[in-house]
Amino acid sequence: MATAPAAEVPAHVPPELVYEIGLTTGPEFLAAPHAFMAKLHETHPPIFYSVNPIAGNSWVTIKHADAFFTLRHPEYFTTAGATPFPRDPNNYFFFIPLEIDPPHHRKYRAILDPTFSPQGVLKLEGYMRGLANDLIDDFIDKGETDFTTAFGRPLPVSIFLDLMGLPQDMRDTFVGWAVNLLHSQDRTSAGLAMRGIEAYLAQVIAEKTMTPDDRVISTIIQARPDGEPLTEREIFGFTFFLFIAGLDTVFATLNNMWLWLANNPDRRQEIIDNPDNIDAQVEELLRVFSVTFSGRTLTQDIEMRGVQMKAGDKFSSILPACNYDPEVFPNPTTVDFSRPRKPILAFAGGVHSCIGAHLARLEIKVALQEWLRRIPDFSVAPGAKTEYWPGGVVGPKALPLIW
Ligand code: HEM
Repeated sequence: MATAPAAEVPAHVPPELVYEIGLTTGPEFLAAPHAFMAKLHETHPPIFYSVNPIAGNSWVTIKHADAFFTLRHPEYFTTAGATPFPRDPNNYFFFIPLEIDPPHHRKYRAILDPTFSPQGVLKLEGYMRGLANDLIDDFIDKGETDFTTAFGRPLPVSIFLDLMGLPQDMRDTFVGWAVNLLHSQDRTSAGLAMRGIEAYLAQVIAEKTMTPDDRVISTIIQARPDGEPLTEREIFGFTFFLFIAGLDTVFATLNNMWLWLANNPDRRQEIIDNPDNIDAQVEELLRVFSVTFSGRTLTQDIEMRGVQMKAGDKFSSILPACNYDPEVFPNPTTVDFSRPRKPILAFAGGVHSCIGAHLARLEIKVALQEWLRRIPDFSVAPGAKTEYWPGGVVGPKALPLIW
């Protein structure tokens, strides 16, 4: 139970539901985050109040059904203020589409749904395979690499730049911004990254307004959802949010998966031996190694599982824990590629379910296929110690591999 001052916990929260578990920041979490989140089912009630001096206090759920309920009821659970990134109140912008509730959310989402549809992302498959192989060419003969810097980061960043219509020579700059914005523990580096991204995107938006292309930023600029173009701040908030949502999530996911692959040669071989089962393999790995959370704020008082919550309370679904709910996924920590198909929560659900889910699945599939075809046998470099990033996207900091 929590040791935090009672004043920080609203009076309506029963003391027996208050816990300080160090979610995303504490030593036990950082030692083995996925095992930590799976174990919550044995040690914690389905809904409890998490006290966290760094990440903030909120109700949390670890249940699959509760997460789907909150995600499917935006009338009770709003996404306003759902992201932790500070903005200038005098020049405010929303992170679009995440911070917009229905019905307005639809008009933004519709602009990009065709690009991110299963058919839309398939157009990128050839490019992805070429890119994965170019990256592998750079290090395969050395017999070793740091997966994170040589493959896990550059793959999604390059795909993102291509999708957005941004130059590939910005890759290292984007990687630097992403690391500083999403992982630096000091606000100065994060603020500098945020301003760097703002200045760069403002310039790009101005250029693409004059000279459009057929990529995502131009699609947003040229959209006329109500017969009118989006405002400059809307275009900016939309483009910026794609950057936040689409980079770190993919590389954290790849890093977690490759760490598991490196440590489980027989399971790696199972993937290689069953190429027709690749979609189920990707889905099961996404279930076991999901990386992020869904934050909401209550718009009205509500009772769930006998727990009384009040309007204004924060609420978060611990999606990785929900994917380990034993009521839905028996033996939840076992990676089982023949599990009966049930909806997973890696990409959340409801109106805000991840627009990039088909893209991310394809990136993971291509990465698995191309890597395992060329480097079927590999392991973690001897002596390497796995350390995880604190914060809202769960993944190892580095992953030195040898083969
Ligand atoms: C494995 C990789 C990814 C994971 C695990 C992931 C996870 C998520 C989750 C959990 C949400 C819902 C957040 C919430 O409800 O609070 C979300 C939303 C979103 N994601 Fe992803 N994501 C991934 C990749 C991507 C990519 C590649 C893109 C785009 C390039 C992207 C763009 C978005 C957008 C725009 C939203 C907001 C959707 C809306 O509000 O309608 N994501 N993602």
